[in-house]
Amino acid sequence: MKIVICSDAAQTRRLAAQVLAQQVRSKPNSVLGLATGRTMEAIYAQLAEKAQNEALDFSDVTTFNLDEYIGLAANHPQSYRYYMQEHLFGLINISAENTHVPDGTAEDVKAEARSYENRIAQAGGIDLQLLGLGENGHIGFNEPLSALNSRTHVVTLAQATLRQNAGMFNNDMEQVPTRALTMGTGTILDAREALLVVTDAKKAEIIARVIEGPVSALVPGSALQLHPHCLVLLDAAAASRLTQREAIFWQMQHDPDLRALLSA
Ligand code: GLP
Repeated sequence: MKIVICSDAAQTRRLAAQVLAQQVRSKPNSVLGLATGRTMEAIYAQLAEKAQNEALDFSDVTTFNLDEYIGLAANHPQSYRYYMQEHLFGLINISAENTHVPDGTAEDVKAEARSYENRIAQAGGIDLQLLGLGENGHIGFNEPLSALNSRTHVVTLAQATLRQNAGMFNNDMEQVPTRALTMGTGTILDAREALLVVTDAKKAEIIARVIEGPVSALVPGSALQLHPHCLVLLDAAAASRLTQREAIFWQMQHDPDLRALLSA
């Protein structure tokens, strides 16, 4: 893992948008893996701004989202398809047919999971996978104890996730769907590059387990320790529980890739 500790959340988001923009500039037909959640909103806003002001061109880009709630249609304001339309797709010049989000209303959700894996493979695999982190350590909707080599599948959401995401459902846990489709942890590990973005003190303990703890199904994000090209962007608050901060700052000062990212 390469880790960057930013001074604040704003710098974290700015660098994340920069990494995504750089990917699209260097490979205009990139296949991007995308994520949802509050952390991503400001990142997508910056990408949309770059599309407008810096002519960042998404016309050849293909995207695959990590996950979707089962039972929510594309026009449901809490569906991830709706979120993506609002926060990114509707603001950039991407072709609708190049954007993929698992279909949570599919009659046969298991068949939809298999077909999603096939579509990713047919697109040539994911070049760069953007990831957030659940407070319980989930990536996508791969909850604690799920297999670390899983492919796109149907999951039952953990109670912690229902609690964490209730904010988007009138603070009512009962309204949060209990099942979802998600890329598997194995699918995520297959992306050629991974970008994990974590901000806020409330994630300090879990990100320390992701980065410094043992690789364990109890903390699905810890599987990223096995990814050969994973960049982690943290704000100072999220990084506050890491024991290896000094080593991380040393690497930030001496790794040419990180220096280039930080000085751009
Ligand atoms: C949801 C998504 C995850 C995301 C998480 C983080 O649960 N399924 O992919 O990582 O939210 O959310 P937030 O950024 O709001 O903390």
